[in-house]
Amino acid sequence: MPKAELHLHLEGTLEPELKLLLSKENQVVLEQKTVAEIKKSYQFDSLTSFLQVYYSGMSVLQKEEDFYRLALDYLKKAKEHNVRYVELFFDPQAHTTRGVAFDTVIKGYARAVSDSQALFGIESALVMCFLRDLSAESAEETLTAALPYKELILGVGLDSDERDNPPIKFKKVFKKAQEIGWHTTMHCDIDQEDSIEHIEQALLDIGVERIDHGTNIVENPRLVEYIKEKGIGLTCCPVSNSFVVEDMKGKEMLKLLQEGVKVTLNSDDPAYFQSYISDDFVALSQKYPLAPKEIAQLAKNSFEIAWISDERKAQYF
Ligand code: ADE
Ligand code: ZN
Repeated sequence: MPKAELHLHLEGTLEPELKLLLSKENQVVLEQKTVAEIKKSYQFDSLTSFLQVYYSGMSVLQKEEDFYRLALDYLKKAKEHNVRYVELFFDPQAHTTRGVAFDTVIKGYARAVSDSQALFGIESALVMCFLRDLSAESAEETLTAALPYKELILGVGLDSDERDNPPIKFKKVFKKAQEIGWHTTMHCDIDQEDSIEHIEQALLDIGVERIDHGTNIVENPRLVEYIKEKGIGLTCCPVSNSFVVEDMKGKEMLKLLQEGVKVTLNSDDPAYFQSYISDDFVALSQKYPLAPKEIAQLAKNSFEIAWISDERKAQYF
């Protein structure tokens, strides 16, 4: 099946081989000395334990070329999984806070985006995420730094540690993003205590067009009805979920899908969870009773909620 991937963190595609290679090239000292040791360190039992490894691994990304290579390596793999369209999340603050210029990050990623069609036949776009465990002021500074590159960015998102960092904290910066004309989405993670409150804020106070993860919405029929009516989709990540909470949340995904919600499947951080997008389809369908029609619907939904024109959607699926 042709696939679109809408929830993919570029920094989450850093494979151990590239991490090791860049650490040598850029003389960044890593705790692990071999690919096997790096692989062994990719063990998580919560979002917090994952995020620690995720952020520390990024220290090897230094030059524009490193960001280009990271994105290009992912796109090459995505082609093998028949991905035709991808919206790539990236975390500028994870780099600017350690001294790498915004300019370096976006130029490297944007070059990969512009090469992706010619090299792999994949259309791609960048979605800039704010780190929600940093301040709202830091998010606004990031938005300001991004303004000269406005045309290279399709939308903005919100990721990282959700605890005590509700959507409402970023109301002002998201309003600015919407005024610029950027699309908006937000993570509403599955392990969050105030999940429904956060989902409600994201939908009603911020007015996001999609929710990343968001399966906890199943607990609230009123909000389920709301997203159905508005055609707001969920970008779910079964294998990632199984690392964070030992549950793919397949039951919830299936229930929402059968109710007509635009549920989609995505890989999130494929290098860390060792699962690229087709693996997520396989993992979910092996564990849950998905009919072939439902599997196709999941893939179709991704094109339907992608931030592309209706004509493009029809061409893809
Ligand atoms: N950053 C990268 N992956 C993430 C995830 N699954 N949740 C929150 N922040 C992230
Ligand atoms: Zn994510």
